[in-house]
Amino acid sequence: MSDTTPAAQAPVPPPSCIMVIFGGCGDLTRRKLLPALYNLASQGLLDGGFTVLGVDRIDLDDIAYRARLDDSVPGFVGEGIEAQVWGDLLSRIHYQQGDFLDPAAYTRLAARLAGLDQARATGGRHLFYLATPPRFFGEIAQQLGRAGLAQEAEGGWRRIVVEKPFGNDLASARALNQRLHESFDEDQVFRIDHYLGKETVQNIFAYRFTNSTVEPIWNRRYVDHVEITVSESLGVENRAGYYEQAGALRDMVPNHLLSLLSVVAMEPANGLEANAVRDEQTKVLRAIQPLLPEQVLTDTVRGQYGLGVMPDGSRVPGYREEPGVAPDSNTETFVAMKLMIDSWRWAGVPFYLRTGKRMPGRYTEVVVEFKHAPNMLFRDSRVRRYNVPPNMLVLRIQPNEGIGMCFNAKVPGPTQELRPVEMNFSYADYFGTAPSTGYETLIYDCMIGDGMLFKRADTIEAGWELVEPVLDVWGALPPRDFPDYAAGTWGPPESDALLARDGRRWKPCDVCQRHGD
Ligand code: BG6
Repeated sequence: MSDTTPAAQAPVPPPSCIMVIFGGCGDLTRRKLLPALYNLASQGLLDGGFTVLGVDRIDLDDIAYRARLDDSVPGFVGEGIEAQVWGDLLSRIHYQQGDFLDPAAYTRLAARLAGLDQARATGGRHLFYLATPPRFFGEIAQQLGRAGLAQEAEGGWRRIVVEKPFGNDLASARALNQRLHESFDEDQVFRIDHYLGKETVQNIFAYRFTNSTVEPIWNRRYVDHVEITVSESLGVENRAGYYEQAGALRDMVPNHLLSLLSVVAMEPANGLEANAVRDEQTKVLRAIQPLLPEQVLTDTVRGQYGLGVMPDGSRVPGYREEPGVAPDSNTETFVAMKLMIDSWRWAGVPFYLRTGKRMPGRYTEVVVEFKHAPNMLFRDSRVRRYNVPPNMLVLRIQPNEGIGMCFNAKVPGPTQELRPVEMNFSYADYFGTAPSTGYETLIYDCMIGDGMLFKRADTIEAGWELVEPVLDVWGALPPRDFPDYAAGTWGPPESDALLARDGRRWKPCDVCQRHGD
């Protein structure tokens, strides 16, 4: 066999830049951004001049800011942190006190950036990362524009990274896009959806578009339906302030679930150029049939967890008993829905989506269930056509990252017995595990200016357009039966009924693995 493995292209550190983190004292910075920068540094992917400038309201100087990070960040990097790599990264971190709403703060910021550009040879390359509460996103972008900081000068670049949530409905998402565009061009804007930063999500591109056996069966002719599950065992934790306003629908669907759906369902792009890929992703979102109000009643399900027992035996409170949650809260912690895509590839193939908190485990999976074989060769045996499970492909995004194919095999022996078995590819077996927060690739891509894994303005708006009718109907008809599922279960009974109506059942997560039990 000839070795046709493409030569690996080792990534190189992008040219030096200053990463300005608004919200430098916040949770995201400490938990994700700095650990991700540490991981990039330890892989040699930060240029010697790379510099961080934290901006926040607290009054600190560089030394005090570094001490603060030194106290908290290593705990999130995990075991095996190399003191030298961390110490070197810390020495490139600076701090600027400023109120995000105060124009004078931006004048000071401009002066500080000019000084750092000189001292660190960062050439006017500035990455503005909005790790703040969302109410500041538009304001910061506008102030940066007014201070001339969005303006790209010779050789330099200015980019802005916007975290989620991007708006809380279609109108607010549009308004935020407009505000960003007053100061930044679209190709300077990087809207994060950290699901697209997950290796296993990126691998769906590789799996679908580099394997000649996959695409021919990836369509309505062979696929019966697709299930996308993002289940979490955690509750609302300490985020009630945000979650009470958002709920599971806004928190997970227009962003993470639709990102997964678009990667699974998109047409092949002309190449890996950012806009070619994002064109296809937006196109497939636009091909999803909008839900009419009466369909919202039949094709969507919402739920809220009550107290219950988790699989490890721990008793946990219901959502309404969580700190900061109203005792009569109607916020949903679970969503399921059925979507149909109007395209030649997917006409008639339902996509079932579900996500929820306090479910029995943390699983993100896509199950592609194939149609039954057309002809039952085993007709005269004990095997009945519909006793034979259909083939299934399981894309395991997390945990046990990998891909499984479930198919039927003959049980050894003189009788015709079939049993589902699996072929299983596990990332860890092939590639080992590298410490990752999911943000490494995304930050690296911002620094090299590759927007492929970031949402474009029209992609974001297409997502909200789909969710909008659900928000409208749910808003007009408050739920009457919350809480309606016990913590530690798979959501309210209506979720099972949504599939049962079509003669289907949610596959248990890690289904291929269980077949082997
Ligand atoms: C976030 C949501 O965007 O994604 C959280 O706001 C959710 O509510 C989280 O817990 C899930 O991300 P992951 O990477 O843990 O699956």
